[in-house]
Amino acid sequence: MCRINLSNYDLIKNCRICNSTNLHLILDLGEQPPANSLINKSQLDIIEPKFPLRLFWCGECFLVQLLDIVNKEHLFKHYLYMTSASKPIVDHFKKYAVDIFNEFLNKQENPFVVEIGSNDGSLLKEFKKLGSSILGIEPASNLAKLANDSDITTLNDFFSLNNAKKIAESKNASIVVANNVIGHIENLHELMEGIKILIGAQGIFIFEVPYLLDLIKKLEFDTVYHEHLSYFSILPINNLIEHFDLEIFDIQKQNVHGGTIRIFVSKKNNFKIKDNVKKFIKLEYEFGINNIKTYENFSNDIKNLKNKIVELLKNLKNEKKSLFGYGASAKGNVLLNYCNIDYNILDYIIDTTPLKQGKFTPGTHIPILSSEKISEKGNNDVGLLLAWNYEFEILEKEKSFRSRGGLFLIPIPVPMLK
Ligand code: TMP
Ligand code: ZN
Repeated sequence: MCRINLSNYDLIKNCRICNSTNLHLILDLGEQPPANSLINKSQLDIIEPKFPLRLFWCGECFLVQLLDIVNKEHLFKHYLYMTSASKPIVDHFKKYAVDIFNEFLNKQENPFVVEIGSNDGSLLKEFKKLGSSILGIEPASNLAKLANDSDITTLNDFFSLNNAKKIAESKNASIVVANNVIGHIENLHELMEGIKILIGAQGIFIFEVPYLLDLIKKLEFDTVYHEHLSYFSILPINNLIEHFDLEIFDIQKQNVHGGTIRIFVSKKNNFKIKDNVKKFIKLEYEFGINNIKTYENFSNDIKNLKNKIVELLKNLKNEKKSLFGYGASAKGNVLLNYCNIDYNILDYIIDTTPLKQGKFTPGTHIPILSSEKISEKGNNDVGLLLAWNYEFEILEKEKSFRSRGGLFLIPIPVPMLK
C-alpha cells in the first residue's frame, strides 16, 4: 500500500534550469520510499511514506530531472551514507585532492577549500593534510558532528546564498568542491549565485556528477532516486553556467559511481578552455541528448531489464539457491522496490556501513547485516550485487566466497552470474 505524505512532497511544473513547461515523462519507477530511508525493526509494521519516482526530460534545455520533490529536510537531515565506508571512494578522494592541489593550489599562499555536501569530511581531510584551510557545509547533523569531532570544520546546514555571502565576507574560496551533490539541489540558480560570490574573481568551482550518457548507455536506472533531482549532461549545465557569466574550462571523465564527470568552472577568461569541452557537446548531440527517441528507447530497455532480473532470481530460487544482497546502497533500494524483490527473496543484505547494520531496507524490509556474514557463505549462495559500481573491488575482495562456489549476480546492464 502506498501513502504519499503531502506535507513532505511537492510536484513542480517547470524545468529546474530553463523554466520551460515543455517536460516529457520518460521513465516511471512507480511509488517508492526514499532510497536511503532505512527503517528500524520497530517500524516494520508502520506504513512507510512513498512518493512517485518519475524521470522527465526538458524539450528546451534537455535537462533530465525529477519533478516529484520530497522535502529536503526529510531526506538529508539525518543521513546514513558515509563516504568513508566505501574504500574505492576514499581512494578516489585521496587522488582527487592531490591532483587538484598540485594543479591549482600549491603555489597559493593560503589556499582555502570549501566543500558543499562534505559528508563525513573524507575529501576535506585530504586537502587539510596537503596544507589547505578547509570548511565543510553539510546538512546532516550526524555527519557534520562526525566531521567536526575529527577536526574537519563543518557548518551544519544546507548550502545557501546567505551562507555563501557570510563565508565570502571573511574570505573567498580558492576552490569550491561539490561531489555528487549538485544533483540534489533544487534551486540551481541560487546555487550558482552563491558559488559565484564564494569563488570571487579568481576561485574555481569543481564538481562531480554522474554522467547522464553513462546512465543511459549502461541502463543505470537505479541511480534515479528522490535525492537526485537532476541527471546532468553538459548541454544543460553549460546553459546554466553561462547564465551566471561563468564558464566551463575543463571536463574530465572519472571512473566512479558508474561513470562520473568532473567539471571545472571559473569566471570568464581566467583559464584557457580545453578542447574537450566542445568535444563533449558534439558527442552529446550525436548521442541524441536532444531527441525524445533516445529516452523512449532507454525506457523500453529498462522494462526489459526488470523482467530479466526478476526471471533470473525466480530461476535461482527454483534451483533452491540461497539469495542475499551485497551493499545496501540507495540505488540497491531503488532496484529492489522497482523489481519487487523483498525479504521473501533475499534473506539479508550485507553492508560495511556501521550506521546501516541492524536496520531494514525501505519498502522491501530486508535485514541489513555486517559484512562478516559472507565468511560463512559459499556453495549454493548467490549475492545480488546491489553496489554494482564497485564490482571490480568487491569481486576481488570476496575471492574466497567465490572460490567456495559462491556466485554474484550483477544486475546491470545485462544481468549476469559471476
Ligand atoms: P554507494 O554505491 O552509494 O557508494 O553505496 C555503496 C554501499 O555499499 C554503501 O552502503 C557501502 C557498501 N559497500 C559494502 O558493503 N562493501 C564494499 O566493499 C563497498 C565498496 C561498499
Ligand atoms: Zn529546461
